[in-house]
Amino acid sequence: MNYVTDDTMNTFLRTIQPMYDGVLGEIQKEAIAADVPIVPHEVARFLSVLLSMKKPKRILEIGTAVAFSSSLMSQYLQEDGCIHTIDRFEVMLKDARKNIARMGLEDTITILEGDAADILPTLKEPYDVIFMDAAKGQYSNFLPHCLRLLPVGGLLIVDDVLQGGTIAQTRFSVPRRQRTIHKRLGTFLWDISHHEALETSIIPIGDGVALCYKIKETAMEVEVEGVEQNEEDQ
Ligand SMILES: C[S@@+](CC[C@H](N)C(=O)[O-])C[C@H]1O[C@@H](n2cnc3c(N)ncnc32)[C@H](O)[C@@H]1O
Repeated sequence: MNYVTDDTMNTFLRTIQPMYDGVLGEIQKEAIAADVPIVPHEVARFLSVLLSMKKPKRILEIGTAVAFSSSLMSQYLQEDGCIHTIDRFEVMLKDARKNIARMGLEDTITILEGDAADILPTLKEPYDVIFMDAAKGQYSNFLPHCLRLLPVGGLLIVDDVLQGGTIAQTRFSVPRRQRTIHKRLGTFLWDISHHEALETSIIPIGDGVALCYKIKETAMEVEVEGVEQNEEDQ
């Protein structure tokens, strides 16, 4: 896995901030031991703080893996809150289902199985928080749906946005095979940093986390919703 910070800093951050207790802590340790790409501990702690402040009712996650981050986020939901989490990789989802049952969260976390590109357009109800932690090259394609599904005051949190720090280098100094993703991530970061509906901060922990707060609806979103409504009416 890529990290923006060096090993000394990573060890420090993971030591000073205690690991999670109970079944959640077991799921975290097992995933780390099995090299499952869950959020690094310092990013998990950052999520804990954000969600303690936000106390969401509905969360959408793109990228379930073995359901560590969804189990973590469920701890901060309002009563009767829910999480919908999308993943397309059945091998991971088998363990995700087991972990959700171990946590007793079957009524709280719903897995939406399939490619996020196919599932996102089908979602209609708004979410207070969207956590995007999937194929980085697709983030720009998923962004319009995230904006559509977030109300004003909603949070979009995006993991793995700094490509191990190489995003700060020129395209030609990264290995050829990484250039497409370098370009796509760069465009995504530019878009969320300049979007009129978003207040955005890019934070160099883990492999980089983008935090976007939706401050207003944009004319385009309202128009798109209007068009969809008209089409549905016909
Ligand atoms: C980094 S892991 C998610 C880790 C998880 N959020 C956690 O911290 O516990 C990324 C997951 O996204 C899934 N994924 C990647 N691209 C996807 C897509 N286009 N649609 C659905 N799932 C996708 C992968 O199968 C993988 O399980």
